[in-house]
Amino acid sequence: MDFENKKVLVTGASRGIGRAITSAFLANGAAVWGLSSKEPADLPQRLSAAEGKLSWLTVDLSELRAIEGVIEQAVKSADGFDVLVNNAGITKDGLAFRMKLEDFQRVIDVNLTAAFLISRIIARDMARRRSGAIINMTSVVGVHGNGGQVNYSASKAGLIGLTKSLAQEVASRGVRVNAVAPGLIASDMTDTMPEEAKSKMLDHIPLRRIGTPEDVAHAVLFLAESPYITGQVLQIDGGMFM
Ligand SMILES: NC(=O)c1ccc[n+]([C@@H]2O[C@H](COP(=O)([O-])OP(=O)(O)OC[C@H]3O[C@@H](n4cnc5c(N)ncnc54)[C@H](O)[C@@H]3O)[C@@H](O)[C@H]2O)c1
Repeated sequence: MDFENKKVLVTGASRGIGRAITSAFLANGAAVWGLSSKEPADLPQRLSAAEGKLSWLTVDLSELRAIEGVIEQAVKSADGFDVLVNNAGITKDGLAFRMKLEDFQRVIDVNLTAAFLISRIIARDMARRRSGAIINMTSVVGVHGNGGQVNYSASKAGLIGLTKSLAQEVASRGVRVNAVAPGLIASDMTDTMPEEAKSKMLDHIPLRRIGTPEDVAHAVLFLAESPYITGQVLQIDGGMFM
């Protein structure tokens, strides 16, 4: 894949799936702006390894009112992005009957509302330039649901609606909007799951392994450069849901 001279913004780039997406774009020639709530400890090493092709934005996406100013500034300083990957996400699991309103709201804010705020600023600029690709990180639970995750699955289902609606709004201006829906992927987010739960899930994965962040990154780059795909949700789940 060739992303030479392309500019990419990746949210949640400090670790896990976002980190793998950032590395894959850099390895394929892109300049990348990573965004996370905290600077990763190894940022100096990552910046020097990227030889000027990696920039960093430290923004807490739960602070919704701060987002637009920072993203507008980033669009200006980058002189426009070719690709946006809305990857940042959190979980705050619990059964619906016991879930605190703030735990529902925070997950919606970070996973969905922040993606909406970032997308509309960048999509507007892409539309002006008549080109661009946005990829939203949803989840198989946004399609199929999952007990104990009403907040998370609602945020991920919301991202699917956002993806399809925005895709319809901007397609005529040359901007594509797609989503990827990972299944079980090894990362900090899934590290805390009990081994028993993971091995039960593994029984339902025909490819017989847990996915890697690189598996997801591969699909993100594919969608970023596929000129005739828009409004789609691509499941990356080893065949868990067919
Ligand atoms: N790991 C999985 O099995 C899996 C499955 C389906 C979907 N996903 C989705 O993939 C994405 C990445 O997940 P991961 O497994 O790499 O998780 P992770 O916890 O390892 O990484 C999350 C990233 O989001 C960033 N982030 C979290 N809260 C933020 C905030 N308030 N402001 C700014 N940045 C914030 C973190 O800094 C980090 O870079 C998430 O959207 C997640 O919902 C993951």
